Amino acid sequence: TPRTPLIAGNWKMNGRLTMARELASAIAKGAPAGVEVLVCPPFPYLAPVAVTLQGSAVHLGAQDLAASEDGAFTGEVSGEMLGDLQCGYVLVGHSERRTVYGESDDVVVAKFQRAQAAGLVPVLCVGETQAEREAGETEAVVGRQLDAVVKAAGIQALEQAVVAYEPVWAIGTGLTASPAQAQAVHHFIRARLAAIDAKIATGIRILYGGSVKADNAASLLAESDIDGALIGGASLDADSFLAICQAAT
Ligand code: G3H
Repeated sequence: TPRTPLIAGNWKMNGRLTMARELASAIAKGAPAGVEVLVCPPFPYLAPVAVTLQGSAVHLGAQDLAASEDGAFTGEVSGEMLGDLQCGYVLVGHSERRTVYGESDDVVVAKFQRAQAAGLVPVLCVGETQAEREAGETEAVVGRQLDAVVKAAGIQALEQAVVAYEPVWAIGTGLTASPAQAQAVHHFIRARLAAIDAKIATGIRILYGGSVKADNAASLLAESDIDGALIGGASLDADSFLAICQAAT
C-alpha cells in the first residue's frame, strides 16, 4: 500500500495532567518507525503534551474544534488556536459529538472546513449505530456522512484529510467489527471516493475505530483498506497503545 499507517489515540475526557505527561512521554519514547503516531489529549493538556512531544515524531491533535471563526463563542476553541498549540490534526464528527451533543452533518461539515482553513488535517469520523446496521442501513448512513463533506468541501479537500470508520456499536463496548465487516465498509468508503477521483481515493487513509486492542489490531490492520486505527480505551495505556502501533508496522 502507498499509504503510511496512522495510529491515533483519542484520550477522550480522561486522565489528569501528570498522567497526560507520562503517557505522552512513554509514547514519544516507544513509538516505532514506519507508522505515523498521533495523540489527541483533552484541550487543557494540549500545551503541556506539546512540550513533552517536542523533538519526537509523534503528532498532536485535538478531539474537536469550533464550527465558527474566532469571536463571541463562549467555551469554544478555534482551529487557529489549536494550530498555535502545535496541533496538526483534529477529530471531527466523532460519534460522541454526533450523538451526545447533537452535531448534525452540517455542523460536522463546518468543522471539517474550519479545520482545513486553519491548516489542520481533519479526521472525519463516520459510522452507523447498532439499529442502523440491523436495519441494513450501514452504507446509506456512512455514505450520507461522507457525501455531506464531499459535496460542501469538494473532493480535493479529501487530499488533506483522514477518514475514520467507527461503528457506534463497537465504541467502548468491547464489541469489535470483525476484520471482514470493517474491511467491507472501508472498501465501500474508498470506492465511493474513487467514483469521483481515483487518485484521492487511493491516497486517503481510512482508519478503523471501535474496541481496537493490542490483541485484535493486527488482524484488522491486515485488511487492504484499513490504513490505521483510532483508539479510545486502549490509548490510555502506553504499553497497549505502543503494541497497536507496532502491529501497524
Ligand atoms: O475514538 C475512538 C473510538 O471512539 C473508539 O473507542 O477504542 O474505546 O472503543 P474505544
